[in-house]
Amino acid sequence: MKLIKKNTKNKVKANTDKARNVISNDSKFAIVEGYKIARTNLMFSLTANQSNCVAVTSWSKGEGKSTATVNLAISLAKMGKRVLLIDTDLRRPNLHNLLKLKNETGLSDVLGQFTDFYQSVHRDVISFLDVLTSGAIPPNPSELLGSSIFEEFINKAKQEYEYVIMDTPPLGVVADTLLLKNYVAGYVFVVRERVTTHGDIESALQSIKIADTKIIGFLKVGCDIKSKKGYNKYGYKYGYGY
Ligand SMILES: Nc1ncnc2c1ncn2[C@@H]1O[C@H](COP(=O)(O)OP(=O)(O)OP(=O)(O)O)[C@@H](O)[C@H]1O
Ligand SMILES: [Mg+2]
Repeated sequence: MKLIKKNTKNKVKANTDKARNVISNDSKFAIVEGYKIARTNLMFSLTANQSNCVAVTSWSKGEGKSTATVNLAISLAKMGKRVLLIDTDLRRPNLHNLLKLKNETGLSDVLGQFTDFYQSVHRDVISFLDVLTSGAIPPNPSELLGSSIFEEFINKAKQEYEYVIMDTPPLGVVADTLLLKNYVAGYVFVVRERVTTHGDIESALQSIKIADTKIIGFLKVGCDIKSKKGYNKYGYKYGYGY
């Protein structure tokens, strides 16, 4: 009896926005403010690059890419901007879990031409935010993301929405992320405090340089928000270029 009670409690906690680090009305002021700063800097970067499309990545798995992508998209939508958030991580997709959405069909199904975008997209997940989840995990993610169908799809999305934000797999693990380079202004690079190493950042900069693309901002997550030192108190910080 005691065990059942404990499990139920844990389950409820694991389902809250707070437990998933997704920003909501219950989030700490400092975290919401940190994302507002990141949003403003991202908007300036995109304007300077004459683009409305960005991909969010990091070097290794589990550093907080998907969480940060969702939070940036929510932050833009809260400003009244029409945003499309796309899960382009077709190997370990997670946006549907973070936003508690069904993932019966999504990007892979649209690219495989089993369904169309309008049937798969989740409209107004919050006001102004539409989300296309990954869909079924395909055997050939790289071919799908490198296809002319993806090019056509993304170009149309960029016309229909004010901002298109893509979640990606880790840069240091699979090549898929760099396949997006022709459609984005550049990459927002997530750095997790006490997890991402200097070596990871150096390797990422090298890969980005070789691929002839760019990082348009760094987003530092997992900071100690109780710290009073510099921007660390915001929990998130955002910087230009490198
Ligand atoms: N700012 C944060 N502070 C503490 N924990 C976090 C933070 N952001 C994410 N996490 C936790 O880290 C784990 C991984 O998060 P997330 O899925 O966003 O990472 P990811 O980089 O997208 O992972 P993957 O490489 O598997 O796609 C989750 O348990 C998440 O709740
Ligand atoms: Mg992820």
